[in-house]
Amino acid sequence: MRLPTDRDPRCPFDPPAELRGLPAMSRLEFPDGHLGWLATTAEAARTVLGDPRFSARRELKHAPVRFTTPGETGRPAPPGFFGAMDPPEHTRYRRLLTGQFTLRRMRLLEPRIARIAAEHLDAMAAAGPPVDLVSAYALPIPSMVICELLGVPYEDHEFFQERSLRLVAPDGDVDGATADLAAYLGELVRHKRAEPGDDLISGLTGDLSDEELITVAMILLVAGHETTANMLALGVFALLESGTPYEEGAVEELLRWLSIVQHGAPSRAAKQDVEVAGVLVRQGETVALSLPVINRDPGVFDRPDVLDPGREEARRHLSFGHGMHQCLGQQLARIELRIGYGALFERFPGLRLAVPPAQVPLKQGGAVFGVACLPVAWD
Ligand code: HEM
Repeated sequence: MRLPTDRDPRCPFDPPAELRGLPAMSRLEFPDGHLGWLATTAEAARTVLGDPRFSARRELKHAPVRFTTPGETGRPAPPGFFGAMDPPEHTRYRRLLTGQFTLRRMRLLEPRIARIAAEHLDAMAAAGPPVDLVSAYALPIPSMVICELLGVPYEDHEFFQERSLRLVAPDGDVDGATADLAAYLGELVRHKRAEPGDDLISGLTGDLSDEELITVAMILLVAGHETTANMLALGVFALLESGTPYEEGAVEELLRWLSIVQHGAPSRAAKQDVEVAGVLVRQGETVALSLPVINRDPGVFDRPDVLDPGREEARRHLSFGHGMHQCLGQQLARIELRIGYGALFERFPGLRLAVPPAQVPLKQGGAVFGVACLPVAWD
């Protein structure tokens, strides 16, 4: 079997039919010819992501889908690219960053996030319906927040939003976008060394080299843009399309049900033979994970295909991964989503789609699932 990248054409929120009902671990043919595995249950995923015998190093892994950078496999991670490192290298970066991404710091951002949301809602109200929710609301909120956190000037947003998008798009010019962002962030890092502020990049200048810091800043800038923004817009689409009223518990359920990180984006290579859910993964084999399928695991979630904001077990989703690489930005993302959805539905209780659902353009085939735009109107 090969890994499809798109969702089920009959319901774009569901994983493709051919990935449903598979055993916990299935044989998967990789685009480079490698015969690896696909993990589709929560138990298998927790083993693969939690067992130190599995490696995140990209020179050990085979890419399960073509959207990963051409030539990504075989090329070791550059300094600072900690998502593709194992301990002890990963641990060093992760400790430094966890010290910056504290829940306390994220909570302090809450009033600022609420203000940013309110300003954008005012602008939407002033413009009047219909409005594209992605450009008017879902993208600017996480973009402004990550800029403030990192100390990146938001005035330059068109430049880095365009490059961020190219980094996760199915056939984006990854090398060109990376080079542009590295040049831009290099300037910024040199400036922060000379004149530190109270932002996150300045806070790391004492511990990381320029090269490391540029890569770390790039990861955070791209991750800060391409995840929460997609989640915000896609979540609104899902609620409106299904006629589900928003309630606070909906954030975890939407994270589960939508699983925006696409099939194969997390993957690991076995450094030794390891048994996973009853099968033997041999040293050197790559295991790809399908988070959209894992989050519909009927062994964990009752009636998994139903979007149910009141679902108690929703928090058991693996949308932020698991183990040592579990999402660094998850507290920030949760706060942005809670404030983002809450403020929107409070201001516009009569929010509705301004086009038939089938006309909403989906971002398929890339590392992150979302909508390219979302025309909305209100009463
Ligand atoms: C890691 C999902 C938001 C920064 C991850 C992983 C997932 C994920 C699945 C694990 C990848 C793996 O194990 O290979 C998400 C989702 C988000 C979100 C669904 C929003 C809804 C963010 C934000 C930031 C961020 C806002 C930063 C500001 C990171 C970083 C890692 C990561 C740096 C790598 C951590 C490591 O390797 O130690 N994310 N993420 N994410 N995420 Fe997120």
